[in-house]
Amino acid sequence: MNALQSLLKPIPQSPISGAELTAHSQRPLGKSCNSRQWSFRRFRIRCSIADTVDRSSDAPVLGSSQVLERLRASRENQENQPQFLAMYSSVVGGITTDPAVMVIPIDDHMVHRGHGVFDTAAIVDGHLYELDQHLDRILRSASMAKINLPVSYDREKIKNILIRTASASKCRNGQLRYWLSAGPGNFLLSTSGLHQPALYAIVIQGKPPSPPKGIKVITSSIPMKPPQFATMKSVNYLPNVLSNMEAEEKGAYTAIWLDSEGFIAEGPSMNVGFITKDKEFLMPHFDKILSGCTAKRIITLAERLVKEGRLRSIRFENLTMEEGKKAEEMVLIGSGVLVSPVLQWDEQIIGDGREGPLARALVDLIIEDMKSGPLTVRIPVLYE
Ligand SMILES: Cc1ncc(COP(=O)(O)O)c(C=O)c1O
Repeated sequence: MNALQSLLKPIPQSPISGAELTAHSQRPLGKSCNSRQWSFRRFRIRCSIADTVDRSSDAPVLGSSQVLERLRASRENQENQPQFLAMYSSVVGGITTDPAVMVIPIDDHMVHRGHGVFDTAAIVDGHLYELDQHLDRILRSASMAKINLPVSYDREKIKNILIRTASASKCRNGQLRYWLSAGPGNFLLSTSGLHQPALYAIVIQGKPPSPPKGIKVITSSIPMKPPQFATMKSVNYLPNVLSNMEAEEKGAYTAIWLDSEGFIAEGPSMNVGFITKDKEFLMPHFDKILSGCTAKRIITLAERLVKEGRLRSIRFENLTMEEGKKAEEMVLIGSGVLVSPVLQWDEQIIGDGREGPLARALVDLIIEDMKSGPLTVRIPVLYE
């Protein structure tokens, strides 16, 4: 007999009368039973325990110190996982460096309703790269998602907390990721009964894995988010995840979305750029996609290539897939991939199928900027 059958097996006929059974089932909570009802209850429990497999070890009731012990053990059992060095939570109002307690409440609306927005910043040689630009974007995303800041928080306080979290982590090269959420309180859709919104931040050791050389991309068959949602960085990344899975299943690095009019949009975690045979650097408009902080910075940095005569111009342009595939060079652009040349899109080889000189120049520009750019893009972390 399997576990389900044993659970569904009827409880044997009890020696109690129908009237007593009714009286028992109608007994108000908290009132004591008479001895005959108690013996019926004990008999019933004995029968159901005897008839089901004892599965109490599947879900033991744990004390809080046991939970902590198990959380710690489960982290230790995860091999080759990134190291989480510090986490801030507005729910506890502070920073922890113990990965076992880097948790968020299950009743947080970001967890069960996707009502949260997020952003990132790279930590490079002890500096936060483009923190202000990413902060501006998370505040924009929060406003679009109708998420207020936690009470008594403003932009300056959030920035301070993020820098302090980086400092407490002692991380010199890694990533800072942070979220603004509608906050914990209940499992409803409405946010009106919630105590207050929440801010979470975490520092992860090391850079995100670099993309491979010789990137191949495919056209995504998963529909992209409509502009209202694609232009904000919310935690609703299911289309992005599925699009990325589709690419991996087809042996590609990532997938490219076309918008509702058939123009090239973006990838699931990056923007795209094209260098035409006329040496024009073209990028899709940001009105239906996420305005990438890296793409915006690249546009500024690439002006140098225009001055040197290596690029003719830099423009936002609606491009069809056919036009994109005919480009001399194609690049993925984003915090995770920096600038990564694409050598094949579906069956089409891009350019001569090798990393092009302008993609190389753009990579060099962004790496130099991350290591020695101006204070407007590099905030030093003062380590404790
Ligand atoms: C959908 C999407 N587009 C573009 C980007 C690139 O943005 P950024 O350069 O700010 O990382 C990202 C980054 O995560 C993204 O998720």
